[in-house]
Amino acid sequence: MSRRILVLPGDYIGPEIMAEAVAVLEVVNSQYQLGLELEEGLLGGAALDVHGVPLPEVTLQQAQASDAILLGAVGGPKWDNVERHLRPERGLLGLRSQLELFGNLRPAILYPQLADASSLKREIVAGLDILIVRELTGGIYFGEPRGIRTLPNGEREGFNTYLYSESEIRRIGHLAFNLARQRDHRVCSVDKSNVLEVTMLWREVMEEVGREYPDVTLSHMYVDNAAMQLVRAPKQFDVMVTGNMFGDILSDAAAMLTGSIGMLPSASLDKNGRGMYEPCHGSAPDIAGQGKANPLATILSVAMMLRYTLNEAEAAAAIEQAVSQVLDQGLRTPDIAASGQVAVSTREMGAAVATALRS
Ligand code: IPM
Ligand code: MG
Repeated sequence: MSRRILVLPGDYIGPEIMAEAVAVLEVVNSQYQLGLELEEGLLGGAALDVHGVPLPEVTLQQAQASDAILLGAVGGPKWDNVERHLRPERGLLGLRSQLELFGNLRPAILYPQLADASSLKREIVAGLDILIVRELTGGIYFGEPRGIRTLPNGEREGFNTYLYSESEIRRIGHLAFNLARQRDHRVCSVDKSNVLEVTMLWREVMEEVGREYPDVTLSHMYVDNAAMQLVRAPKQFDVMVTGNMFGDILSDAAAMLTGSIGMLPSASLDKNGRGMYEPCHGSAPDIAGQGKANPLATILSVAMMLRYTLNEAEAAAAIEQAVSQVLDQGLRTPDIAASGQVAVSTREMGAAVATALRS
């Protein structure tokens, strides 16, 4: 049985990191006879340049016809001045929403080899293993009405709508509780229910969902406190579940605890476990084309894809093992290198993982 993987390299460092991830995927594809067929497509600025829109119909069709999607990163200054609805990011958001990829899993795991790359003290982060479950297709990112309008007095006003339906909250809740069952059985739901009605409902519904999982402990935290706790005592968390915007912000903070956002993969899943896999970081225009980008987040996204959508846990573990091995060997891209250490390039890091897999 052949399975189709859509590869969307995207913009700036996207193609560089994706080349390494694809090379690694090809190795396990033949080693484990996975029968994966890879196909490339355009999204974001790359699509805008060719088709005039960030999410062309053909890309959407490719995405719908594939079993899983691997994405690099989209966006960058080249398209800063395009019309709002044509921004590269809209391509990514459109794909998430069209495919109903509501469940965004963002693990923040500290590799023991990188404990000193964290900006926090070693003892605060050693052994860190958090899973942020971010709602990805609702909330203020998608709520209508939205826009920028001019008032009668000539002043402009920008507005968005923060909206969650009960069913949207319920389904992300179930995902978080089920994931907690495979971990430490703790869920912390993050909201701003002291101020925002939409998150008062969020908290209520999370409580209801939680009653169906008596073996999982549910706690609640306001988002401002959660941000503080993440940098104060991050190991108190197991699974954190939150809405789209809070999840966007908290996952960047959590990522940095691990030393570099360049290490963190993510999965965006629909209700059947089909998904899109991408690094947590962006397109890093400042280092594009210089071989400085860390390909490990994208390579680890390949591992997540194998595990969560393709049910190939063994191949997934082999990739994770290979990444750990190259870190043991002391290989570091600039983002995770100690000061004074000679860093390897994107290419060298990718090649080292592929070599470790073959040995
Ligand atoms: C992310 C990114 C995106 C988001 C951008 C690129 C639209 O920051 O995946 O976290 O805000 O969701
Ligand atoms: Mg983000």
